[in-house]
Amino acid sequence: MNREQWKSQAGFLLSAIGSAIGLGNIWRFSYMAYDNGGGAFLIPYVAALLSAGIPLLILEIGIGHERIGSAPLAYAKIGKKWEWLGWWAVTFVMFGIVLYYTVVIAWCLNFFFLSFNLGWGDNPDTFFFKEFLAVSNGPFEIGRIRISILAALVVIWGLNWIILFRGVQKGLELANKIFMPLLFVLTAVLVFWSLSLEGAMEGIKAYLTPDFSKIAHPKVWIDAYSQIFFTLSLGFGIMIAYASYLPERADISKNAILTGVINSGYSLFAGLAVFSVLGFMATCQGKPVSEVVSQSIGLAFVAYPKAVSLMAGGNFFGAIFFLCLVVAGLSSSISIIEAFSSAMVDKFNVSRRRFITTVSVLGLLGSIIFTTQAGLLWLDIVDHFLTHYGLVLVGILECVLIGWCFRLKSLRKHINTISSIKLGAWWDGLVKYFVPAVLGIMFFGDLYHEVTHPYGGYSWASVILIGCGWVVLTLIAAFLIAARRWKTDCHKAGGRTC
Ligand code: ALA
Repeated sequence: MNREQWKSQAGFLLSAIGSAIGLGNIWRFSYMAYDNGGGAFLIPYVAALLSAGIPLLILEIGIGHERIGSAPLAYAKIGKKWEWLGWWAVTFVMFGIVLYYTVVIAWCLNFFFLSFNLGWGDNPDTFFFKEFLAVSNGPFEIGRIRISILAALVVIWGLNWIILFRGVQKGLELANKIFMPLLFVLTAVLVFWSLSLEGAMEGIKAYLTPDFSKIAHPKVWIDAYSQIFFTLSLGFGIMIAYASYLPERADISKNAILTGVINSGYSLFAGLAVFSVLGFMATCQGKPVSEVVSQSIGLAFVAYPKAVSLMAGGNFFGAIFFLCLVVAGLSSSISIIEAFSSAMVDKFNVSRRRFITTVSVLGLLGSIIFTTQAGLLWLDIVDHFLTHYGLVLVGILECVLIGWCFRLKSLRKHINTISSIKLGAWWDGLVKYFVPAVLGIMFFGDLYHEVTHPYGGYSWASVILIGCGWVVLTLIAAFLIAARRWKTDCHKAGGRTC
């Protein structure tokens, strides 16, 4: 079986950046920075990027390139008993994260169209929660499917399908070569436009003025590490699959560093647009910025529409903002589906095109629960459990597996032979000790909190059945798939086949 390859290293780099830059960069990062000490948050954030983000990115790209396979194949080539770990990563992102991620992109697509006539009316808060989502009273009160969300969701899954169906070069690579420059141009337009608004500087001050007292709190550091982990798509199995499509000679450490730095630079830059607009709104309403700011979902779907309604030409501004979210979201969602599909092709030798069609239909069907009136509540619970436990556990086990059960030194040698930036023994230390220790602290800190309070004030039944249930079911699925026989010889192959 011949493995498809990227046409160029720039294509790989743009695709890795496309996977990293997603919905989280635009609204999650800016709010997190604001809430955790403004400019001072950059200290833990950059520390997390340098001490865990980039080293793990190098590890994932390195192992995908050296073992030449998607996550399950790469791990099976290290030891058959570890194959499940790769399956778990790609299964909970495919049958978990991407199911609600695509629904949020569908909300953005709806808001893109609503922007043209400011369709959220005078009260975006009531519009978003009561009319658009019509949120029910609890996760088990499913209610009806929201048709406008479902319609946009069909479009999003359709786009995912078309891109992936065309393969690595003509699909993923081409899409990212269009999406990334488009995203950068649109974001630059937003940033320069928003900086010219009255009151913009008030917002920027609120965003970046350092409050050094905050960074003494462990929570701020935990937030920084978890943001870096999610934003770089670590533990998703994506970077491993993407690296397996690289040619024999590829500059691994340089590509990893560029991906990490461009992704974080983009977050910081996009934050300027978010906070200038909040500064503008605060000035219009004669309030301090702290009173107009709101958290993640509220920031994009309530605070932003409010500000857009106050702005001259706001409908175009709103349309550009939501288009940025759609583009950033799509380039990440295709990478998640690719990580799973590539694994299925590696193990079961299924026809890629047929499989992409099947998995897109399954994905669409699986997303439907998040389009119901209980969708936001399910999304909140599932996201909490998968990102706090799934991703973090995969990260820890990945470091243990590659750091302790594999010849880490020989992997470093492989990376150094083909990369322009050489890694020293410090990298081994980060992978073997530091990153698993930090992730371990995050894991046990969260677990302690989890068993003492039901997450988000939901009932124990919903937290256990939906949140824990999702984690456990994907784990069982991973073991079952890992137990199936290989239909290819890929796991035995040493050379650049498969
Ligand atoms: N890395 C992607 C994001 O930040 C998943 O949204």
